[in-house]
Amino acid sequence: MVVNTSRSLLYTLCREAVSFRSELRFYKSAFVSRQVFHCQRRTYSANGTKTSLSPNICSSLAGRSYKELYELSVEDPDTFWGSIAKERLLWNRPFDHVNNCDISTGRINWFPGGQLNVSVNCLDVHVAKHPNRVALVWERDEPGTEVNVTYRELLESTCRLANTLKRHGIHRGDRVAIYMPVSPLAVAAMLACARIGAVHTVVFAGFSAEALAGRIQDAQCKAVVTCNQGVRGGRVIELKATVDAAVKSCPSVRSVFVAQRTSNRVPMTGIDVLLEEEMAKEAADCSPEVMDSEDMLFMLYTSGSTGQPKGIVHTQAGYLLYASLTHQYVFDYRPGDVFGCVADIGWVTGHSYVVYGPLCNGATTVLFESTPVYPDPGRYWETVERLGINQFYGAPTAIRLLLKYEESWVKKYDRSSLKTLGSVGEPINHEAWEWFYNVVGDGRCPLVDTWWQTETGGVCIAPRPAEDGAEIIPAMAMRPFFGVQPALMDETGAAITGNDVSGALCISKPWPGMARTIYGDHQRFVDAYLKPYPGYYFTGDGAYRSKDGYYQITGRMDDVINISGHRLGTAEIEDALDEHPGVPETAVIGIPHDIKGEVPFAFVVLKEDDSLDHSVVIEDLRGLVATKIAKYAIPDHFLIVKRLPKTRSGKIMRRILRKVATDETSNLGDISTLDDPSVVTEIMQAYTRFKNQPAQKR
Ligand code: PRX
Repeated sequence: MVVNTSRSLLYTLCREAVSFRSELRFYKSAFVSRQVFHCQRRTYSANGTKTSLSPNICSSLAGRSYKELYELSVEDPDTFWGSIAKERLLWNRPFDHVNNCDISTGRINWFPGGQLNVSVNCLDVHVAKHPNRVALVWERDEPGTEVNVTYRELLESTCRLANTLKRHGIHRGDRVAIYMPVSPLAVAAMLACARIGAVHTVVFAGFSAEALAGRIQDAQCKAVVTCNQGVRGGRVIELKATVDAAVKSCPSVRSVFVAQRTSNRVPMTGIDVLLEEEMAKEAADCSPEVMDSEDMLFMLYTSGSTGQPKGIVHTQAGYLLYASLTHQYVFDYRPGDVFGCVADIGWVTGHSYVVYGPLCNGATTVLFESTPVYPDPGRYWETVERLGINQFYGAPTAIRLLLKYEESWVKKYDRSSLKTLGSVGEPINHEAWEWFYNVVGDGRCPLVDTWWQTETGGVCIAPRPAEDGAEIIPAMAMRPFFGVQPALMDETGAAITGNDVSGALCISKPWPGMARTIYGDHQRFVDAYLKPYPGYYFTGDGAYRSKDGYYQITGRMDDVINISGHRLGTAEIEDALDEHPGVPETAVIGIPHDIKGEVPFAFVVLKEDDSLDHSVVIEDLRGLVATKIAKYAIPDHFLIVKRLPKTRSGKIMRRILRKVATDETSNLGDISTLDDPSVVTEIMQAYTRFKNQPAQKR
């Protein structure tokens, strides 16, 4: 069989990851994804808590068990998704078909012919039944200053904001960048775009002006919505100043809407609009645009293996349905619960489980503006007690940070409201899992390790839903969600059958929440996700299927790393570093870190120039990454080397760099394809000198 080169490369990487894992058996670091095969086989059935299926999936499917529903969802997706979509969403026009997908060409159409408005499904339908139910609890940076926003109030501010956008010339199909921390106005801005049929692209408010500008330019945004300043962990963040710097190179932007998060005045320019002042002049109702199921709802930029972030496109009906169904079933959300997802809206978790999923389900959703350690390491649990949070969904990196503190920071707060704990964004190691489950959850709340991606729209693999009393294995995503059929692929591109096997994680059938395209570059979408394994969606992750048929994610197979749950392509960092005039070449890899999961490690080649002061160059390089991407992307380590290990065809052999940077040079694997194998000794010597330096000089 002829093996597709990219696939074969991916598989090599996967195999490397697998052997890397077993080699790490003795490695002290708590880097988890790679400890999968030595997990304790302790299992948990959610003692005394309900694991039964949350009711009301829809009336025609009522009374079926999880197993029956899962089987139906994969054997007859049209009946499954069709019945649910009909009943759970409010349509202006019913859909003609449930799906019209061809995964090999990248035609992904769910509910064609159907028309609806997402903001109506998230707001108006609930206002009609319970206008005074709290939709948002804005947990502001200072503890005890939370603000409740009812469904009626959120609908009103959404409509005022929608009218403001329209008055400034934003119409259906226009793109709007939102550069704001999580707040009711940020949620209203997202929903206002949905109301008028504009497409939002939320940019994480920690990204630099250049990174923001790149996204605005790619999306050709007509407007930016931002705040004068942000507040986080007691510090003020100059958001408007960043937007000012960004829009200088963005001629498509006609208006910048500025909300006032603090009372400080910031310089305003000719295109700036004071958001609240303008909203106050507008009517509190706005007739919703009738959207086709497959019109764009939003795009969200994420990293791939090239230097250029990609605008992942999600559309209306399928995304909303998938976000709401996963929100209910993965977390066992029940009406009346207070749902606490502490993610930022700048990431997909914030989109699906702070905004769209919970609001579509009429939930009360928490907007967490602060940090896990502000003003002290008890912040999350004090918030749980004060707000009565029922589901707490967070990132392993925060858990790893918090478990280093005294348990009393958790124990002194009443956590009896908690029913489900959730983890997302990166592998959760056993120590963190056990601490989260036992210390935070007192061993009584099911803890769900949820695997998914910006591209999947919602959770695809998670311990829940499951049959009554079903086991939960620590640090394992375990079971596919309804409609999701995972497949593990081998190096020939064939699906691996049986259990106790590892391979490239693919999904074999389209599901309503999956991304539709990359904005402006459908071919890149097809090439990245659909071509490596024809007929399948390729996730970029490797996975292991256990003896019991459960899935465990083993980590990325490409050059994407995960820093504190933030996904970043090493190529993006390299592109930033390569801008330095004294630096002809760099290679960045991810290495394990006990709190952040992974951190970037940069190998840097300098121009032959004796006048270059290495420490000055490294400072410059740090500055470049902060300016071009974000502070969190700055490599933790810089190692100056004379050259990089390259194959004869000029490809950098990153595997060698990974081995060197993790002190695993006893088994370097095959280095015969290196152009000059002596480079390895050279790099190892440079690394030994580097390690022997005092930590602050590295
Ligand atoms: O490598 C996987 C990792 O995060 C990647 C997706 O990142 P992003 O699109 O930013 O979305 C993060 C939030 C959904 C995946 O390809 N990842 C996500 N969840 C897990 C995970 N790795 C291991 N276990 C998880 N539960």
